[in-house]
Amino acid sequence: MDPIRNPYAPGAGTPPPELSGRDELRERVHIAIERIRLGRASKSVLIIGLRGVGKTVLLDHMRLRAERDGHYSVRIEAPEERSLPGILAPQLRQALIKLSRFEKAKDLSHRALRALAGFAKLKVKYNDLEVGLDFEPEPGLADNGDLESDLQDLLVAVGEAARAADSTFILFIDELQYVPEDQLAHLISALHKTAQLSLPVTLVGAGLPQLTGQMGKAKSYAERLFDFPFVGALTPEQARDALAIPAAAEGVDFEPAAIDYIVSETQGYPYFLQEWGKHAWDIATNSPITLADCREATISAVAALDASFFRVRFDRLTPLEKRYLRAMAQLGPGPHRSGDIAETLGRTSQSLAPTRAKLIEKGMVWSPSHGDTAFTVPLFEQFMQRIMPNLEC
Ligand SMILES: Nc1ncnc2c1ncn2[C@@H]1O[C@H](COP(=O)(O)OP(=O)(O)OP(=O)(O)O)[C@@H](O)[C@H]1O
Ligand SMILES: [Mg+2]
Repeated sequence: MDPIRNPYAPGAGTPPPELSGRDELRERVHIAIERIRLGRASKSVLIIGLRGVGKTVLLDHMRLRAERDGHYSVRIEAPEERSLPGILAPQLRQALIKLSRFEKAKDLSHRALRALAGFAKLKVKYNDLEVGLDFEPEPGLADNGDLESDLQDLLVAVGEAARAADSTFILFIDELQYVPEDQLAHLISALHKTAQLSLPVTLVGAGLPQLTGQMGKAKSYAERLFDFPFVGALTPEQARDALAIPAAAEGVDFEPAAIDYIVSETQGYPYFLQEWGKHAWDIATNSPITLADCREATISAVAALDASFFRVRFDRLTPLEKRYLRAMAQLGPGPHRSGDIAETLGRTSQSLAPTRAKLIEKGMVWSPSHGDTAFTVPLFEQFMQRIMPNLEC
């Protein structure tokens, strides 16, 4: 069918034509943000999930809604090897300038910008911190040169400005698992401080499953301050909606068997649903899209995933890391005992501990419980078997 009208949207952070199955979580975050606006207690929310389940698109949706509702926000992604102050400061500046246009919040926004000017002193420690200065720093305000106290001062100043505008200031931070532990700890204590003062500042974050443990390790009280909703594969019904609703909007149907087939091939994982939908649409010549169309789509959808979604991750691995993942794949979808993986490679778990640690750091695997290792990318074991037909290559 007409590829120009193809509604499906596989890609990193690409908004789906139908954001299926996430209404409850969106509502929960909306309620939290509105409660915080009123100075009522509500935990910050960290969305946890594997690769490709839709964390980024959820953050974007939530942000759009919050901004529409009159809140202020920053939207950042924690990349590997950048510091939190480095990515936070420029975005914060922009948001504060916007907030300062609101007459009631003008003075306090300017004060927050002064705090940001003091915060810029941290450049000595975090040399990727670059921020245009609009005001002179105020002596004693966020200018200690110590991230813990300066971030607290800064977020308190931001919270006071947001309160003056009757709004909530929201930090939307994606890929939070890449923030180093000490910086994460300082972020948690700054949020703790604003919560204690009932200031309207909150974090809506997203990250891989290892984030839950990292937060607890960074600050033992983190679990009292945050909710960790898990997003995963869609239920069969939600997955059917994700496929059928966008097609129906274009006047196109699926045969019931065709849709069931895609739901089962993709196991309901959002990224895969978009990829299969896109290929099935392009292959089909008319409505309804048939089971035969969808079977054919499997071949091109898998090829597309291998070339993008899976491949970008694979290319960042050392030869030994690849062999480690291949050994995991040998054992099945997982999780697997570290000892079993080592045995498959003819090694000891101790000698492979650094490799495993590196894979966790890169966000390729995580540890669901002590001594267990699981992939963070759904269906990665099948990809590993395709790309490395045996353990030796
Ligand atoms: N609820 C949903 N229903 C249907 N499709 C979805 C849904 N959520 C996300 N998608 C689609 O899944 C794909 C992946 O989404 P997204 O990039 O947000 O995932 P992610 O969890 O952030 O992945 P990663 O961990 O790799 O960053 C996109 O193509 C998006 O359109
Ligand atoms: Mg993402």
